[in-house]
Amino acid sequence: MWGGRFAEGPASVMRAINASLPFDKRLWRQDIAASKAHVAMLGAQGILTAADAATISEGLDRVAAEYATGALPDDPALEDIHMATEARLAELIGPVAGRLHTARSRNDQVATDFRLWVRDALDAVDTGLRAFQSVLLDRAAEHADAVMPGFTHLQSAQPVTLGHHLMAWHEMVARDRSRFADARARMNRSPLGSAALAGTGFAIDRAMTAMALGFDGPTANSLDSVSDRDFALDYLSAAATCSIHLSRMAEEIVIWASQPFGFITLPDQWSTGSSIMPQKRNPDAAELVRGHAGRILGCHTALMVTMKGLPLAYSKDMQDDKEPVFEAHDLLELSVAAMTGMTAALTFRTDRMRALAEAGFSTATDLADWLVREADVPFREAHHITGRAVKAAEERGCGLVDLPLDVLTAIDSRIDARVFGVLTVDASVASRTSHGGTAPVRVREAIAAARAALEKSA
Ligand code: ARG
Repeated sequence: MWGGRFAEGPASVMRAINASLPFDKRLWRQDIAASKAHVAMLGAQGILTAADAATISEGLDRVAAEYATGALPDDPALEDIHMATEARLAELIGPVAGRLHTARSRNDQVATDFRLWVRDALDAVDTGLRAFQSVLLDRAAEHADAVMPGFTHLQSAQPVTLGHHLMAWHEMVARDRSRFADARARMNRSPLGSAALAGTGFAIDRAMTAMALGFDGPTANSLDSVSDRDFALDYLSAAATCSIHLSRMAEEIVIWASQPFGFITLPDQWSTGSSIMPQKRNPDAAELVRGHAGRILGCHTALMVTMKGLPLAYSKDMQDDKEPVFEAHDLLELSVAAMTGMTAALTFRTDRMRALAEAGFSTATDLADWLVREADVPFREAHHITGRAVKAAEERGCGLVDLPLDVLTAIDSRIDARVFGVLTVDASVASRTSHGGTAPVRVREAIAAARAALEKSA
């Protein structure tokens, strides 16, 4: 490629460290699309003859057809996908192939290809997350009334509805989607035509190539355009946060599937056995979602560290941008699909959840609230009175709702029989009707609103 100046080829280690083809061949679709947009523009601007532009464009289609059959180049001597495609084009159409690179550099080429790839990745993740949301809404609707223990410090705190818990997961996913959407809106500008770093003297039309590639318009500054990888960092940052959410949900699946909890059963399709313990049903997929989050966070860190300290404009360090993004994306897509599949297929053991919700004096706050509401007791004092009631129940080995009325009135004479109306777990969740609360009526509203939003975001 630079035979004009160089007499000797590269040392084999030089070739090995320099080559990105083994991984950047994954950009081939974007590389062909960007080259076709570029050559069409060169033809339209009269920089190439219409005939040459057509020959090159048809040749690019032939290269793409070969790549599509799986015949992707892998000779590291070709260095990267850009050079490999141009070399193959020259084999197919002859020296006119050499005109394709007019008014272009690999620096704006790779920046364009990679942006296009990341844009597709953003869209793919959004599709996956949307499907996950849809499953969450179905399962939340199914269990809008089912009572389970709600936790703080992983200690039983107050009863909540399973629908409410699943809608909490849904909220995390909704924020993730909005983060990916923000990233997409910000990144959708075309760097093509920035050339090596300074722009070009050819009368190119950057708006035309931007439009052809589905960008909102060209980027503003050629130096920034070839050295900016914010779009990849934004993707990785959103992916990292999303993976943290998926990992937290996966952790709940692991805990819930454990025998002491027994909140869920994973079907055979989503379980693995043990080679030594025949009774085991392990939640490996959930554990791997949890594990993958560590790797995705690592990918984000890797690219941030690669970029920090790079002077303008392009430096070859930036070739290391692709593998972390590819790796994170593959892991994220798999993680989203696994969480979607598991959530759709698992069985919620709602009887067990209810039994545990009823244990642990989970309606103690309801007793305290009742004292505040019905007997005008200041909350701090009500907390105290309730503490004594919990102690009495503990001593008798029963629940708060099972305490005889005279035991309660002996603790505080302001208590009367109406209190039993608030001490069941169903009454407890039904009472929590504040905006965003766990009451089934609020949960159903939240599901309906989320369904409407999901339809709109299709
Ligand atoms: N393979 C290179 C990369 O991914 C393409 C850009 C090469 N540019 C250059 N000036 N050597 O970054």
